Amino acid sequence: MSTAAKSSRQQSHITSFGPGKVILLGEHGVVYGHPALAAAISRGMRAWGVPAQSTSLKIPDGVSPSQQEALERAFARAAKKTKHPKISVHLESELPLSMGLGSSGALAVAVCRVLIEAQTGQPAKARQVEALAFEMEKEFHGTPSGVDHTTSARGTMVLFKQGKAAEVVASKPVKVLVAMVGPRSSTKQTVGALRERQKKWPARYKRVFEQIGKLVLEGASAVRQGELEALGDVMNMNHGMLNALGLSSPPIEEMVARLRGLGALGAKLTGAGGDGGAVIGLFREPEPSVMKLRAQGIDCFASQLAGPGAL
Ligand code: MEV
Repeated sequence: MSTAAKSSRQQSHITSFGPGKVILLGEHGVVYGHPALAAAISRGMRAWGVPAQSTSLKIPDGVSPSQQEALERAFARAAKKTKHPKISVHLESELPLSMGLGSSGALAVAVCRVLIEAQTGQPAKARQVEALAFEMEKEFHGTPSGVDHTTSARGTMVLFKQGKAAEVVASKPVKVLVAMVGPRSSTKQTVGALRERQKKWPARYKRVFEQIGKLVLEGASAVRQGELEALGDVMNMNHGMLNALGLSSPPIEEMVARLRGLGALGAKLTGAGGDGGAVIGLFREPEPSVMKLRAQGIDCFASQLAGPGAL
């Protein structure tokens, strides 16, 4: 962190963390009303507020001009809803941006907590944060299902379905290796292109989304029973279906094969997919594989998704 950022954080009286997320099962189907199983990861976005004359957001480095515009619009929306508390909001990211790890949802959660606490002087409630962060997410993604920011706000593993309260999935530890595959198109674009294909051939796409929805429920039950092999098998099948929907690419396939070759019980793309993004592998102990991949120059990390000691 820069010295200026460090000193602004020391002056701040409100600090907040929004974890990133991985979708274990069910991305894209969730946009069409099917369930998804998602979990918060240990990396995320930090936000802190420094008293100021007006409401403002300090845009972090590494944000592209189009991301900056969306961020400014999203922040303006949240600031209006919280009646413009006199605070300057600063951000620090531990998450790679635009990799399918929920950076915008994590950012929205971290920022909204700071704004709500500055407005009310009270700790923000999860439901308040979820509602406000959804307003920001709409600016980032157009028609988000809400799975990203809800998972971040809950900070654990959830079974999510649009229009229903997210269900926390109590589970033994589930450990994944998260590998970065490379840059990708925006979630908005990938979701939009799939929507066009789905509009052209609705019956065929509906069948696949329904099958994915069933896998999600089977996967959630495997997680609850601690059956990691079954969960891995469901993840592999889900990946095949995402590929069938046109959401994979040669670099994603190569990474999925690599993780399976290292002994992953299951491996799949996570998040919107498309040309790049992130791939997850389910391992009983991911650390040795993290070491091997890092030695080959691959950007990856391990995260425990549930159970004691997660986050
Ligand atoms: C993105 O993390 C997950 C998608 O299902 C989009 C959404 O749920 O809004 C691809």
